[in-house]
Amino acid sequence: MISLGFFPVRKILFNRSRCNMQPQKSVCVVGGAGYIGSHMVTLLKSKGYTVVVFDDLSNGHAEAIKDVELFQGSILDREALTEFFSQYDFECVFHFASLIQVGESVSNPSLYYQNNVVGSINLLDCMIARGIKKIIFSSTAAIFGSPLRSPIDEDHPKSPLSPYGKTKLFVEETLKDYDTAYGLKSISLRYFNAAGAAPDGMLGERHNPETHLIPLVLQHASNRQESFSIFGDDYSTPDGTCIRDYIHVADLCDAHLLALKFLEVNNRSEAFNLGTGVGHSVAEIIDIAQTISEKSFDITVLSRRPGDPSVLIADGTKARKILGWDPKWGIEEIIAHAWGWEKKFPWQ
Ligand code: UFG
Repeated sequence: MISLGFFPVRKILFNRSRCNMQPQKSVCVVGGAGYIGSHMVTLLKSKGYTVVVFDDLSNGHAEAIKDVELFQGSILDREALTEFFSQYDFECVFHFASLIQVGESVSNPSLYYQNNVVGSINLLDCMIARGIKKIIFSSTAAIFGSPLRSPIDEDHPKSPLSPYGKTKLFVEETLKDYDTAYGLKSISLRYFNAAGAAPDGMLGERHNPETHLIPLVLQHASNRQESFSIFGDDYSTPDGTCIRDYIHVADLCDAHLLALKFLEVNNRSEAFNLGTGVGHSVAEIIDIAQTISEKSFDITVLSRRPGDPSVLIADGTKARKILGWDPKWGIEEIIAHAWGWEKKFPWQ
């Protein structure tokens, strides 16, 4: 059951620490205590931005954003959002707060339409009411559905297979209408397979439950998962397992920073596909993970997971050309950094 009117914990301000320096620019990261959001907060701070996080901590971790001002609240709570925005003067909002499990979205679509669609509209409306006219939105490759061509460029037809993908596409469309009507400028960034951890080992992925390939194989390597299952080895790919375009979380964050600069200079809405353009199969990932962790895995092959396309690879040309984005990290570094983080396992 979804409770919309009742938010047991909200509007608790903590982690409040104001530095003495005059802030360069003030930005808000909604969902900033989550996996990608917390890396973004760290990057923005390192670039001199004053950052405030709005997060309900349902999936995020306050420990990930120590020394950052955190407002605990839900995007389903308009009152909390209004109170939050009334306290600040943000130049831009980064919107990372969403539910992300494709399978769960199929079994419980209501949850996804509430959180991802209604929550996003609440956020946009409260931004508009406060006069904030820039947003960077976390979208997904799932908006495209089964690829009709590969790699996938921005003009590829959008036909999401899951409620999760539909919610993200709906918000992208809403953003276009809000630009026309209210002058809200947005950049939608469609992630392919976000992965990896901070190269210095200080931040990483902590989902509960974890459903993603790389953290799951590494949890198996560190004996936190007894076994590991491949979902299907009968795809029409060279080794029969699915191919994905894994993009390092640090490279994703660089793209967000470039998107912010693009909005500052051009004040124009855009959407970009974010991937390296290089695909790796599930079997390849397992091989690399075994090498890096120096462990050998106990692997079971199961039947296909419903809704998994065989190959998903991004055409990142537009982001490279227009944003000047240049992803640095390859798959070995992605897995090595994720392994460094897995070995720490600090928060649970
Ligand atoms: N896989 C396994 N075993 C596991 C987990 C995953 O074999 O235990 C396989 C999947 O079947 C898939 C590949 O590993 O072939 C990657 O799976 P992930 O769950 O890590 O990632 P997805 O490609 O399913 O999901 C990503 C994003 C979603 C986005 C989706 C678009 O995480 O947010 O791409 O299709 F919606």
